[in-house]
Amino acid sequence: MTARPELLSVEAAKALPVDEVRKLFERHLNPGQLHFLKLLGFDQVLVRRAEGMYYTDQNERQILDFFGGFGSVACGHNHPRILAARKRFQDEQRHEICIAFMSQYATALAHNLAAIAPGELETVFLTNCGSVANEAALKLAERCAGPKRSTVAYATNSFHGKTRAALSVTDSEFYQSGFTLLPNRRRVRFGDLDSLEEAFKSDPSIGTFIVETVQGGAGIVLAPESYWQGVRALCDKHGVIWLADEVQCGVGRTGRFFAFEHYGVVPDIVTLAKSLGGGKTAIGAYIARRDIHMKAYGPHKTALIHGPATFSGMGEGCITAIETLNVLYDEGLIDNSAAMGARLLAGLQRLQQQHPRLIKEVRGLGLMVGIEFHDLSETLPFGMKQMVSLLDDKLKGSLCGFVGTLLLRDYDTLVAFTEYNRNVIRLEPPLVAKAEHVDAFLAVFGELLELGVTKIVSRYARGAIAA
Ligand SMILES: Cc1ncc(COP(=O)(O)O)c(C=O)c1O
Repeated sequence: MTARPELLSVEAAKALPVDEVRKLFERHLNPGQLHFLKLLGFDQVLVRRAEGMYYTDQNERQILDFFGGFGSVACGHNHPRILAARKRFQDEQRHEICIAFMSQYATALAHNLAAIAPGELETVFLTNCGSVANEAALKLAERCAGPKRSTVAYATNSFHGKTRAALSVTDSEFYQSGFTLLPNRRRVRFGDLDSLEEAFKSDPSIGTFIVETVQGGAGIVLAPESYWQGVRALCDKHGVIWLADEVQCGVGRTGRFFAFEHYGVVPDIVTLAKSLGGGKTAIGAYIARRDIHMKAYGPHKTALIHGPATFSGMGEGCITAIETLNVLYDEGLIDNSAAMGARLLAGLQRLQQQHPRLIKEVRGLGLMVGIEFHDLSETLPFGMKQMVSLLDDKLKGSLCGFVGTLLLRDYDTLVAFTEYNRNVIRLEPPLVAKAEHVDAFLAVFGELLELGVTKIVSRYARGAIAA
């Protein structure tokens, strides 16, 4: 009999102590990432349970989740209806893999997405993440546009994922470093119609324009409202396919199901992921105009060029997404996102007025909010600069690392950071947030700001040295 290697069981995994997880993470997952987790004190926490707005850690400490998996937990952690739907599905021994037959679950999910999507968006392709949804959508657009129009326009500070095509249109030297990218791409300034028009006019090989409706990775950046009508008009005029990446800003995050609905426009293809999985499953999708799909893959001779994929439309993933969409509407979570987002933004604006030397800008739409701090590299007092220079490069000019670390350590509150702009904290809590959660966040954040820069930095440094 084949010898059994030293395997951990599920129960053993659940029981691993934090030191052991740290060791295994370092050995088998990502040693470099551990450096950042340590820097922020995140290596001290193991989540044992999660419910609604809260994580509970190994010490039974409740942590208020304003990070929300970068907008992946619209319905809150472990929503009871989503859990129940999954449990029923398992108890009934429903199937997962369905390549040979039609899946009633994938079909119903596609129907639901088409019912939600406006205009002619009605043909769906299912994936397991946002990058692959974009990958698939870029291929769809390319086949539709044809070989003479294979160039993809993309925006400054974009993030579309880390697979090859998505990475090629992700505006980050850091993420792109050292990789061979797709040759046909053209960068335009985000939110700038002149830049887009100039690109379309000067380069007729542009057939696709991919753009996030609200830029997430850039630090929650919105284009001027008038931009989107202009994008629609320019794409129509030049016959360019507009691919809206709503992986982060979709599924109700901004107070509309799709962020583009704020602007009275409809793109040609839209991608979703993150919250589509209800925080319980990995699922992504594109929804395209039917004529685009038909042109690219319509006839039976070409129908199998891109799909199906092995894990596209797994049973439990699909029913999880179906239940998620139903919960979103039944519980009014999209409207709640608009209302709670407005409350959060107004509270943050008040704090900005009280602390203008700390906070440069607050911005957002619904529960997708960014807080930009002033860069401290210029303004820190001399002694502080020296202390901070002993810390990590990533933390030097930025209050975010210190504030985020202290929020977790001392105030049991989790926020997200921004790779492209280290001065921005991102808030993307579950859309089940109530006024009491928003007010609790504002209270602890306000209390921390009251300390002022010197105390914030020295409190962080003391903790870092002690650890
Ligand atoms: C706008 C956007 N597009 C694409 C992606 C990639 O999604 P995934 O990490 O699921 O591959 C992300 C992830 O953060 C995103 O924010």
